[in-house]
Amino acid sequence: MTPAVDDTQPWNALTLLAKDFKPDLATWFATDPARAERWTFSAGDLVVDLSKNLITDEIVGKLIELADTAGLADHRQAMFSGQPINGTENRAVLHTALRAPAASSLIVDGVDVIAQVHQELAKMYDFANQVRGGKWLGFDGQPIKTVVNIGIGGSDLGPVMVYEALQAYVDGPSVRFISNLDPSDLWLQTRGLDPATTLFIVSSKTFTTAETMTNASQARRWLINSLASRGLVDPASDQAIREATAKHFVAVSNNLQSVSDFGIDVANSFRLWDWVGGRYSVSSAVGLSCLLAVGQANWQAFLAGLHTIDQHFQNTAAVQNLPLLMGLLNIWYTNFLGAASHAVLPYQQALHRFPAYLQQLTMESNGKSVHDDGSPVNTDTGEIFWGEVGTNSQHAFFQLLHQGTRLIPADFIGLAKPADQVTEAGLAAHELYLSNFFAQTAALAFGRTADQVRAEGRPEELIPALVCPGNRPTTTILAPALTPSVLGQLVALYEHITFTQGVIWGINSFDQWGVELGKQLATQIAPALAGDQASLAVQDASTQSLITTYKRIKAEPTTSNLR
Ligand code: F6P
Repeated sequence: MTPAVDDTQPWNALTLLAKDFKPDLATWFATDPARAERWTFSAGDLVVDLSKNLITDEIVGKLIELADTAGLADHRQAMFSGQPINGTENRAVLHTALRAPAASSLIVDGVDVIAQVHQELAKMYDFANQVRGGKWLGFDGQPIKTVVNIGIGGSDLGPVMVYEALQAYVDGPSVRFISNLDPSDLWLQTRGLDPATTLFIVSSKTFTTAETMTNASQARRWLINSLASRGLVDPASDQAIREATAKHFVAVSNNLQSVSDFGIDVANSFRLWDWVGGRYSVSSAVGLSCLLAVGQANWQAFLAGLHTIDQHFQNTAAVQNLPLLMGLLNIWYTNFLGAASHAVLPYQQALHRFPAYLQQLTMESNGKSVHDDGSPVNTDTGEIFWGEVGTNSQHAFFQLLHQGTRLIPADFIGLAKPADQVTEAGLAAHELYLSNFFAQTAALAFGRTADQVRAEGRPEELIPALVCPGNRPTTTILAPALTPSVLGQLVALYEHITFTQGVIWGINSFDQWGVELGKQLATQIAPALAGDQASLAVQDASTQSLITTYKRIKAEPTTSNLR
């Protein structure tokens, strides 16, 4: 039975501290000139200022005690050393091995997993060099110009985020991503593409995910039909279809039999292992599309950035350990101050998919209500992660952050240099951009008092509406530039924050059984949509009614100008 975290000495002490807690950032900063410096830490190229959080030395001391009581150091060691910490699937969790240097070694079940990783990396680099060098030829002998990654969840969100973030480094084929089962995704992403110069990567650890397998089949149909319409392929010939598929499809998977059954040459498939979870897989072969776009040196820099933070997390004392401290602050807000969500606000357009990526990482990991041993949790777990790039977010939802009634801790991520070489005017715009970045965390922390509003000469009756209460917690993450290494550092930082929270809550952050239920039900509903009355009859009354309505609407003549 997992010992209840809420029945430990540090938890009780934190509960008491929270009870009489009156955060006052303005006074804390005024009376403690060293506060900013004391709560600013670095890891790799990341400088992280925690000083605008609602914390005191006493609170953080107790949070660190809580981590000790929860056995964080042992759990971390268990993860890094390959013990099967994903209990419900009896699997090790070894994404950290994916970026360990070739000179290191880690034996798990008699196999050196780091040697395996580097063998696969060598194969990926060789393939990337062929494609990027124009030596990988399509069906009619032309080199590849566009890569299309087909995958969903961890087999999509990570690569999309990285590809967008590293736009300034793309010097290979451009990449498109198809994830949604909605056929319009495939239609949009293949629009305007030349099949003869297109390479599909079917990325699926299991190679059974309905969305990905459906999209992969549709993409193959698109390829064959397009090549056939030019007289390049005989669509009636299985042999011709197999040859075209082999030249225009590769796979990333742990299920080589299904890869081969699909018609992809196993020699052109890249391996994942059981111990790589989908949402932790961006540093595996799942990132192949990004490697093709940015090349080997940049990919190696990305992996090195991840490894830098892995080492920081593993070897840094708790009082300076950034993922650990940030994870503990999330516990403080979620479990003691009642926060239900957490905003992530990158001030860099290239990071526009970072919040979406983090949503799967954090919420699929920590959206759990039973402990590792199956006993129910007594505390809240996984907060809702959300966000958007600044400054767009300022003009969308910052009003609620500044004056709303809810407590929403927020991470601000800023880069000292713009993502791309820009003109002098562009550099000035970037500076203006960063002045917003700094201004927002100050406004959230210190707000605007009634006296300050009065001093601005505002009418008395407007004062209540103009007061900003302040004491809205933020963490500021600052890095020199969005290089591949810095991006890797950011990814690993959040992976280990997520891990820290999972350990405190005593949950399994590496399974995702809840997602399975909807998948199962969709399989049962599909025959009902196709007209099977028995399948319809076993649905609940609401679902039956919705399906019947859907069929009626579908059968009615379309009145809009649908194409
Ligand atoms: O959403 C559930 C999930 O299992 C994720 O964990 C995973 O990233 C995604 O589906 C895709 O899985 P696969 O790579 O096996 O297609």
